[in-house]
Amino acid sequence: MGDPSAWFQALDDPSERYPLDEVVYTSRSGGLLEVSHDLQALRASKSPAEWRALFDARYGRTAYPYGSGVWSKLEWVQPHLDPKGVVSLFEGNSNLFWAERYGATLGLDDLWIKQCGTSHTGSFKDLGMTVLVSTVAAMIRSGKPVRAIACASTGDTSAALAAYGAAAGIPVVVLLPAGKITTAQLLQPLANGALVGALDSDFDGCMRAVKELTNDPTIYLANSMNSLRIEGQKTLSYEIVQQFDWQVPDWVVVPGGNLGNVSAIYKGFAELVEIGLTDRVPRIACCQAERANPLYQAFLRAAAVGRPLAPGDVTAVAAQTTLASAIQIGAPVSAPKAVHALLASRGVVEQATEDELADAVARADRTGLFNCPHTGVALACLEKLVRRGTIQPKERVVVVSTAHGLKFTEFKRRYHDGELPFPAHHANRPVSLGSDPSEVSTAIHRALDAKESQDMRSKS
Ligand SMILES: Cc1ncc(COP(=O)(O)O)c(C=O)c1O
Repeated sequence: MGDPSAWFQALDDPSERYPLDEVVYTSRSGGLLEVSHDLQALRASKSPAEWRALFDARYGRTAYPYGSGVWSKLEWVQPHLDPKGVVSLFEGNSNLFWAERYGATLGLDDLWIKQCGTSHTGSFKDLGMTVLVSTVAAMIRSGKPVRAIACASTGDTSAALAAYGAAAGIPVVVLLPAGKITTAQLLQPLANGALVGALDSDFDGCMRAVKELTNDPTIYLANSMNSLRIEGQKTLSYEIVQQFDWQVPDWVVVPGGNLGNVSAIYKGFAELVEIGLTDRVPRIACCQAERANPLYQAFLRAAAVGRPLAPGDVTAVAAQTTLASAIQIGAPVSAPKAVHALLASRGVVEQATEDELADAVARADRTGLFNCPHTGVALACLEKLVRRGTIQPKERVVVVSTAHGLKFTEFKRRYHDGELPFPAHHANRPVSLGSDPSEVSTAIHRALDAKESQDMRSKS
């Protein structure tokens, strides 16, 4: 019986392999790598019941690093790390909650939100970054010459890299498209002491620049084409299943930009089946902004000629400005993996326009959520898939909420102030009041009366 082990493997040639501490991001033919695990060893070392018991025992406890959602599954993620050397901020274990009222508005009884925004830097990116930075920290300890870790970002990757780099004491370089990320997202790497490059370009331009920069092997690439990131992000699926007492939902709905996350989510569900803890994968709906929709366009083209999507179908588009700024990506690096994920999960691709995503955010916020615009893309697409009957009323659906709404307050302010170039159907403005208590009371009663009659009108 072998110990758990894992290695980088070329997607297009399983015999091409590299150790996880080697500085390598692509295969010899320039294709993507993925992390492969010795699944036979994982199956042999514990029964499914023993794995479930181990993961449940570690869940949310303080024993370092196993209380982290990611590192509670260490053997399945990066088995070559010394647990004491892991760089963890106790990421993961994010809320999975029943969105009862919002689901009811769509006719869904069993709608759940996986709230990744409640993680350390406010997005799901922490899940992958802890794995990547932990691996680099181990490389440095073993004498490998790494000067810095670098990434291109639409705002959330850079926040995560800067935090984990700072926690490990490793220098970080982030390349951002100037003026295209939110103030909160810019302040995160600045506060954590990263070297921040604001490029006069878009994300795709930043990606080209970081690839050039990381041709120097002493500057390690942290974008999701580095599949160590995917290994952390796949634990989202382990968590969802664990939080449902080891049951698999029918659908997972997720916004897609560079398409690393949708690939990671599929990989997590597929491994649970391969190691014997579950017996199926959910269907995956990948949701794109209409202004940055290369996967959706490829999906439509394939459907128009009556054939499934193929890996070579996704061609780059020029991404236009979208409120969902973190998915404003025209040349998604992980497209081949995402296509595989969609085919293997009987997945679908949908898109949302600017007004659809903004109104979906506001409608769901009215039921107690506080969504980022990317989650708005997922919600608007969910609404379409339910209307079309692709998603059925009794099915169990999980929407992956990818970031915290508090990182995107300017978007919400513009919506509620009516500053966006389309009608804001759920705008809510403060009522301006003086200071006299009885006048305040009269005005509040008047406002409540008006609200009650408006609610009655909209119900009738
Ligand atoms: C908040 C948010 N949602 C969704 C995405 C899309 O993830 P991916 O690029 O892996 O498709 C990103 C990152 O790009 C993001 O920051």
